[in-house]
Amino acid sequence: MSLQEEIARHRTFAIISHPDAGKTTLTEKLLLFGGAIHVAGAVKSNKIKKTATSDWMEIEKQRGISVATSVMGFNYGDYKINILDTPGHQDFAEDTYRTLTAVDSVIIVVDVAKGVEQQTRKLMEVCRMRNTPVIIFVNKLDREGRDPFDILDELENELKIAVRPLSWPINIGAKFKGVYNIYEQGLDLFKPDKQKVTERIEIDDVNDPAIDQAVGEADASKLREDLELIEGVYPEFDVDAYLRGEVAPVFFGSALNTFGVKELLDCFVKIAPSPRPTQAEERKIEPQEDAFTGFVFKIHANMDPNHRSCIAFVKVCSGKFERNANYKHVRSGKMMRFAAPTAFMAQKKSVVDEAYPGDIVGIPDTGNFKIGDTLTSGENLHFKGLPSFSPEMFKYIENTDPMKSKQLEKGIQQLMDEGVAQLFVNQFNGRKIIGTVGQLQFEVIQYRLLHEYGAQCRWEPISLYKACWIESDDAAALDAFKKRKHQFMAIDRDGRDVFLADSNYVLQMAQADFPAIRFHFTSEF
Ligand code: G4P
Repeated sequence: MSLQEEIARHRTFAIISHPDAGKTTLTEKLLLFGGAIHVAGAVKSNKIKKTATSDWMEIEKQRGISVATSVMGFNYGDYKINILDTPGHQDFAEDTYRTLTAVDSVIIVVDVAKGVEQQTRKLMEVCRMRNTPVIIFVNKLDREGRDPFDILDELENELKIAVRPLSWPINIGAKFKGVYNIYEQGLDLFKPDKQKVTERIEIDDVNDPAIDQAVGEADASKLREDLELIEGVYPEFDVDAYLRGEVAPVFFGSALNTFGVKELLDCFVKIAPSPRPTQAEERKIEPQEDAFTGFVFKIHANMDPNHRSCIAFVKVCSGKFERNANYKHVRSGKMMRFAAPTAFMAQKKSVVDEAYPGDIVGIPDTGNFKIGDTLTSGENLHFKGLPSFSPEMFKYIENTDPMKSKQLEKGIQQLMDEGVAQLFVNQFNGRKIIGTVGQLQFEVIQYRLLHEYGAQCRWEPISLYKACWIESDDAAALDAFKKRKHQFMAIDRDGRDVFLADSNYVLQMAQADFPAIRFHFTSEF
């Protein structure tokens, strides 16, 4: 198969949702259709159960499982599908943001009873920043939930994206009878079944009497009314608008009952984008370029303390990746060869000889890689688009064993390279501040520093609201700001100026008092 053909058949995406909406269940059903697994229940949830937040080893075990399920590749018809898994626990949201930089599209799962929840809103913001095409799956139609029209309104308002239903439910909850496939004009009747695919009734169009026979006259005419309303309210589905991230097609179903999932998948492979161009600082890289390029979007540490090694996850952006070929690690300028790169098919990892744009390659690493690193066939390129967001929680990190300060230093550096959290150094007192999205990350860091580096640390409170990256075209204004706020100025790992605002009020005052300064809440601007 030519490079062009390989690219055309690749679909690399992530499923995102608020915990419990059904991401794991939907992933499993997609694997079932792809023949990658044969029975439901085979995919272990990498969800970190809420009850286990203080039980560290339990979390580690669960994170261990997630290495295997980090990327799930399978063939579906002529398509090669790669699902990139994202951590369910919101304390690891930063991991999810980065994974979103490696996908070409996204499926969002929403619980029909709960509607749009907080985590979904936040992840959608990231998709919007990157114009990532989004398909929405409204799940759990077998349960009582909200009116589908209400859900559509809420999706539109809360996720700030136009929506277009491509399937439509006939009742929900106990009376749920099926889904009409608007995209392909078909009717699927609901038969709860966790293993099998529901059979479809072939119809000519929505006026086919077969529908009345199947669901009864009352429900059939309600369906026709609903569809008429949909056609009146929502413009015809425009694939290009979807690809530009302007409109999200919506499907309804029940992942647990394998219902509405095939419609979703069949439509997904047809409309979802194949690997898209990637923007580097220097230029835009097209996937069909012959020369290989890729970037590291995730580093997963082996949790065995006696065997410190990592897997760096590389997304292939262009050309063909080949085992044992010489590639340039742009940050160090070194040429590297990878003798045992792995591919992720189904739930197995195996050594791979070649990989194509859209594929994810796992490279065993002993500390050479950093999140965001670029690999190329020789060209000096730096991929953009791996922003850090302002952390939500901050703590001073202090050494508690003076004999181990080197180990602590090294541990902090490496964990930050992996993207576990963010480090800021306060310019006023020289103290190190770690910023995270959630409490759990502090526990992860303390545990790993001790077990992998033999270093002990303790946390000291610091009351901060946000970290903002600041810049200005006016050097004098920047200087004046830094002087005025000198107690709250820090630098990030790349030496950039960061203002640590201790409250929203202080931040707003600073923005008002210093109009020449630009305040950014992500590290990429
Ligand atoms: P997540 O990865 O998004 O966190 O969600 P997950 O798939 O683990 O699903 C959360 C819960 O919702 C699970 O129940 C799952 O069985 C259930 N679920 C998923 N899809 C549907 C659906 O279409 N209908 C109904 N009624 N339930 C659904 P659980 O009790 O939390 O877990 P489990 O013990 O069943 O695994």
